[in-house]
Amino acid sequence: MIASERGEVGLAAGIGLLRAGASALDAVEAAIRVVEADEDNHTVGVGGLPNLLGQVELDASIMDGATRQAGAVAAVTGFPHPISIARAVCERLPQHLLLVGAGAERFADEVGIERGPTLTDEARRRWRDGLSAAGIESAEARFGPGERAYRQQVIERLASMGVPDGPWDTVNVLALDAAGNLAAGVSTSGYPWKYPGRVSDSAIIGAGNYCDNAVGAAACTGRGELAIRGTTARSVLHALAADGDPAKALCLTPDGRHGGASTVPGATYSVMTAQDTTFRIEQRRQT
Ligand code: GLY
Repeated sequence: MIASERGEVGLAAGIGLLRAGASALDAVEAAIRVVEADEDNHTVGVGGLPNLLGQVELDASIMDGATRQAGAVAAVTGFPHPISIARAVCERLPQHLLLVGAGAERFADEVGIERGPTLTDEARRRWRDGLSAAGIESAEARFGPGERAYRQQVIERLASMGVPDGPWDTVNVLALDAAGNLAAGVSTSGYPWKYPGRVSDSAIIGAGNYCDNAVGAAACTGRGELAIRGTTARSVLHALAADGDPAKALCLTPDGRHGGASTVPGATYSVMTAQDTTFRIEQRRQT
């Protein structure tokens, strides 16, 4: 299994399942659930940073390399494990692929996926500080969220805001099981202070996630709009098929080779195999 930065906390759970003969899909879901439960990770799950209105909206997707079946959800609130909703879409609603917002939440309730709090005190504090730094807090105090004037102000301010400091991103987990099947999963709380309803590449099959046993598994972190424009995960697999080099995005091949690429100097990813007792960190190729 391999994981993007801060995904290493989930690898032992996934590898434990693979050692017991579970599928790559099971391992990916289990690993990502650990990351989603990590309150210190402010880019994924319960510790994730909220949207402009202070609501944590989560996106996730999962893809099975054996069948190329996939499931995805976007802008989900009130559910700490969007990866499990995505898996349920894949397996229990196979005539659909992507559910968003209230529909995804309704489906999650119907299939019995647990609800839970998704805005921590620390994430709320960062949100208030972030909006304050952008001059938005004063608008909130004056008009109150939801008021038309507040919304007009935040739209203007949002356009001028930079990317918040500190790690904000996504988790990618890719797995190869004993039967030779690949799976890929991605989960994110998305761009901090994003406009409500913004959907990241993490929910878009072909952009942030793609998996095909015939070629490999690939997934993306970083600014989702770029991966959506470039259909990056699918493009990486096209390139892998052409030149066999997995050091692109985050990539795992059917014969277990792996690699990562990033525009960020010093970026890494983590690796763990069934023979390992812990994960190891590998450098990504800088592009
Ligand atoms: N890759 C996650 C995002 O764009 O929010």
